[in-house]
Amino acid sequence: MRDRGGESLLGTLRRDTDLLEERPGAPVLGAERDHHPFLERGSVTSVSRMRVVVRPEVSVPAPAARALLDQSEVLIPAITYLLPSTTQGVTGVAWGRPDLRPATVMVLTGPALTPRRVRNFSTTLTTGTYFGMRGSMPPSSHRTTCGHPAGPTLTARYPRISVVRECDRRSGHMLSSQRNKLLCETGPGTPMGELLRRYWQPIAGVSEFERQDAKAVRIMGEDLVLYRDGDGNYGLVDRHCPHRRADLAYGYTEDRGLRCNYHGWLFDHSGACLHQPFEETRHPEGTFKDKVRIKAYPVAAKAGLLWAYLGPQPAPLLPDWDRFYSRGYKQIAISEIPCNWFQCQENSIDPVHFEWLHSNWSMVLRGQDGPRAPTHTRLGFDEFDYGFVYRRVRADTTEDDELWTTGRVCLWPNCLYVGHFEWRVPIDDTSTLSVGWFIDELPGDAPFEQRRIPCWHAPVRDEKTGRWIDTHVMNQDYIAWVGQGAIADRTLEHLGESDRGVIMLRKRMFEEMEAVAAGRDPLGTIRDPALNDRVYLPIVGGLNRAAPGAGPQPFVFLAGQPDEVRSELEQAWQQCAVASGAS
Ligand code: FES
Ligand SMILES: [Fe+2]
Repeated sequence: MRDRGGESLLGTLRRDTDLLEERPGAPVLGAERDHHPFLERGSVTSVSRMRVVVRPEVSVPAPAARALLDQSEVLIPAITYLLPSTTQGVTGVAWGRPDLRPATVMVLTGPALTPRRVRNFSTTLTTGTYFGMRGSMPPSSHRTTCGHPAGPTLTARYPRISVVRECDRRSGHMLSSQRNKLLCETGPGTPMGELLRRYWQPIAGVSEFERQDAKAVRIMGEDLVLYRDGDGNYGLVDRHCPHRRADLAYGYTEDRGLRCNYHGWLFDHSGACLHQPFEETRHPEGTFKDKVRIKAYPVAAKAGLLWAYLGPQPAPLLPDWDRFYSRGYKQIAISEIPCNWFQCQENSIDPVHFEWLHSNWSMVLRGQDGPRAPTHTRLGFDEFDYGFVYRRVRADTTEDDELWTTGRVCLWPNCLYVGHFEWRVPIDDTSTLSVGWFIDELPGDAPFEQRRIPCWHAPVRDEKTGRWIDTHVMNQDYIAWVGQGAIADRTLEHLGESDRGVIMLRKRMFEEMEAVAAGRDPLGTIRDPALNDRVYLPIVGGLNRAAPGAGPQPFVFLAGQPDEVRSELEQAWQQCAVASGAS
């Protein structure tokens, strides 16, 4: 792997922890220098909560530099010194860019110092000799908008990441507009688009294809057609025919593939062109169709959902979450939300909003006076292999409560898991597909098989008033998200203690964008089938069975549940109640 050199370098440097004192004026040299031959001397210039700025002087012998260059594609560890942690007592390593002077380097810290666990800090190098090259600044025409020189090689390959890192000198609590764009833009070739394309994304319900063969979909700015052919294969292909660009959403499916309605070219789910009627009539021996392909992405069915993978091969495994196998009545609801996906996902790690947006506001909407919801008194956020856990203590709970001991899951990279799943899939930069997968537990323990998982479209606006629907939990979330604007302007925020989880999420996103740019698998990628067998996710309340007497609960998450879905649930409930009574 290209980046292994960086990882092993981190490993050898872990033993040193006291190279740098976190106080202005502290010297950056000492006995540890022997372990850090690149660092000659330097001093700390300022320390803030999130950033230690140092002025190191370094020199790197050219052969060593070349060896490092061979090992690392994106970030070159030109400067390798350790920082005592500014937050959690862990150590870190600063990485420099040899092609920039002055340069911003990224400081990585973390208990295990693995790429997944690192934290970002920024530090500024103002003097130095890199790789034996005491260079002058590149000509101003090569500089970025903030006046720093652009690295000619790296900026050409990873323009956004490298430029933004140079420009953003702030501590991370408010974002520059460049960093905001990095989080929000998901089109092909964008860093976030590349990151999200490393995961299977749910884009439709299997049951939708009982009524139709093909539908237009737009995912991360790509216009596509999702179809099911007569042989039962699902395909996801370019919306436009490669012949003369006709709209394949109006094509028709055959046993094998989708045929364009304009001149009849036929494509299968792998992207192969199987038939060109007129061309083959005129040139039966011709090979033109072998030269034509349509963009095609793999599709898989699981848990009643159709999942698409828009990234490079080999695709990782589609996660096999244990909750998919829970006994219960399942349903899927999909909405289109007219705002950027990332503000939707930030909501997945925002515990305090529940008290206000859902509990208290619902009381206000119902005209209820009296005591409001128990207030939050403590929050905790942790990372794990598949995202984050957020934990809370409220005025009516203690640290013995599952809300604190277990917590709820912000599922990486674009989902909330609280017993049900809510994915936020970018349609494009100003609209998001909200895909909800829900389960109603059923009484008794008699076996229950659900023949099909219904998928319904959940409206977001009240047709009569034109206002957003505010009666259900996720509808209230939608109001908060769209209220932040089509793309939330994070340069205007004032983040507080309650936003620690949001800050963690953003930092992890930046780090995983870097990982993808460096050719690594990002967080949560599963490739080992042995690890993908009913993967457990923490859940508050466990997987309880419903009490038989009460009947199914009303569906509180989204407005617009069709009567037939409600009635199917009631029938399932009755069936299970009778079966459990008889057993
Ligand atoms: S445009 Fe599709 S076959 Fe001609
Ligand atoms: Fe919410």
